[in-house]
Amino acid sequence: MKINRCNKSRVNQVDFSSIPFGQVFSDHMLMCTYKDGAWGDPIIVPYGPLQLSPATQGLHYGQSVFEGMKAFKDKNNNILLFREKENLLRLNQSAVRLDIPPISEEIFLSGLKTLVSLDHNWCKFGDSFSLYIRPFIFASSNCIKASSAKEYMFMIITSPTMSYYTKPIDLLFEENFSRAVKGGVGFAKAAGNYGASFYPTKLAQDKGYTQVIWTDAKEHKYIEESGTMNIWFRVEDKLITPKISDSILGGITRDSILHLAKREGIKVEERLISVSEILDFAKNDKLIEVFGTGTAVSVISVRSITFRDFKISLESKNDSYAMMLKKKLQDIQYGRKKDLFNWTTLLSSFD
Ligand code: COI
Repeated sequence: MKINRCNKSRVNQVDFSSIPFGQVFSDHMLMCTYKDGAWGDPIIVPYGPLQLSPATQGLHYGQSVFEGMKAFKDKNNNILLFREKENLLRLNQSAVRLDIPPISEEIFLSGLKTLVSLDHNWCKFGDSFSLYIRPFIFASSNCIKASSAKEYMFMIITSPTMSYYTKPIDLLFEENFSRAVKGGVGFAKAAGNYGASFYPTKLAQDKGYTQVIWTDAKEHKYIEESGTMNIWFRVEDKLITPKISDSILGGITRDSILHLAKREGIKVEERLISVSEILDFAKNDKLIEVFGTGTAVSVISVRSITFRDFKISLESKNDSYAMMLKKKLQDIQYGRKKDLFNWTTLLSSFD
């Protein structure tokens, strides 16, 4: 793969004791263009601005998809990628829905490994550190016809991260706006899903909440996701999470937590969950915990959920399922425990 290295790394200029999510980027980025019906050869270049035509189709019509994934460093200075083939699969599922040409396994996986190995110094060792990896594809044709583009750009950028949320979060049931509709693009990581969520989220944040709980678009009766996360309810000793559908993103962290919970002998139900049954569980003191899962957040405990004027406060628990499952997940991600599920890919030591 062609690599144009930067002259001098910026890594020593970064204060790794405090990194806001998504604002610091590693030295290099991967680029690959689709033209004349085929993806070309990927190239790695120094991280920097793109020169784009104002008519870049993806800017006008949102024909753009992305992924979120992470790499971790173990105590021997190896880098561990986590379930990267799942991200490739989901990126291509999203791409197909947006009529974007899928990317090959070769370009994605070898590009990812070369890029992360090159910028290995940006992935720090330590419990709260990881390297967030953002692969994305956007329509790059110089054309404002409202149709699928003929040219695309696939890129990967990486960003050192600490925590997404620094404390437990407060959620509000959303009853007016919708994240996704049946037959729509909710299952895909389409850029527009996120853009459309910002206004309702801002309204909730203005009232003091961290995020909204998305409910179904037709009746606002059934729970789908929360913010950019999948959502989980612990009812007595059982976990319940919404079943994946075309309006719910199939989170890779969600799937990992499902496997880990089942291995711990926890009963897990993936099913339709109505808002009213969660309120009833809370009224009957059966709702023990609520948490969210996602690549960026990992596993995050929820401090309260509010439906209209009814606020349910959730005490932090010593025997929290969220914290126990997060630890099990991170033990695998950081290479501290045997990877029984074969989820990690080791990039050799960078001593
Ligand atoms: C992720 O968890 O990877 C996400 O998609 C969240 C991101 C939008 C910050």
